[in-house]
Amino acid sequence: MLPDHGFIGCEPFLNGVVGALGHIRDKGLPNIRLHMGDALSVLKRIPDGALSFVYLLHPDPWPKARHAKRRMMNKGPVELIARKLKPGGEFRFGTDHPVYLRWALMVMNGHPAFEWLAKEPRDFLARPGGWPETRYEAKARRQGHEVWYMRYRRTDTKPEMSSDL
Ligand SMILES: C[S@@+](CC[C@H](N)C(=O)[O-])C[C@H]1O[C@@H](n2cnc3c(N)ncnc32)[C@H](O)[C@@H]1O
Repeated sequence: MLPDHGFIGCEPFLNGVVGALGHIRDKGLPNIRLHMGDALSVLKRIPDGALSFVYLLHPDPWPKARHAKRRMMNKGPVELIARKLKPGGEFRFGTDHPVYLRWALMVMNGHPAFEWLAKEPRDFLARPGGWPETRYEAKARRQGHEVWYMRYRRTDTKPEMSSDL
């Protein structure tokens, strides 16, 4: 998929990294690099405006309100993603978790650096082209869960510099 793009995957847990390495080897994919660790530490080292896409697929939901600060979808990470995307680049976020979806809508809606690309429900109810199905997503679907696919285009607005990173 997209052989002319370079991909960086991030995962802190060894088992996930080993599984991904197996797929990369079996499919002979030459354009993927993996970082075993925090995705934010990779993002911080990437030049501003360098990325065409950022995918946040089925992040841990941290459903309890008192754990909301641990969610990846929060002001600091979202500002960082905004800085690293080029204007017109896309932030793609997928979840099957209704609490996380509501939270994400609150974080993203009205955000000056992003435009939500959905014009009608099918735009966020069907997986868009070029968006890979993950293992977690396939399992969620087998369990009968709805999955939501949120696409946000990076506007030309300069993002805030966040102090909480
Ligand atoms: C619910 S799983 C989804 C895994 C995969 N994205 C999928 O859709 O099949 C959430 C994953 O996010 C990883 N994770 C949690 N915090 C992370 C971080 N700061 N950077 C990168 N990955 C993280 C976890 O280790 C876990 O594998």
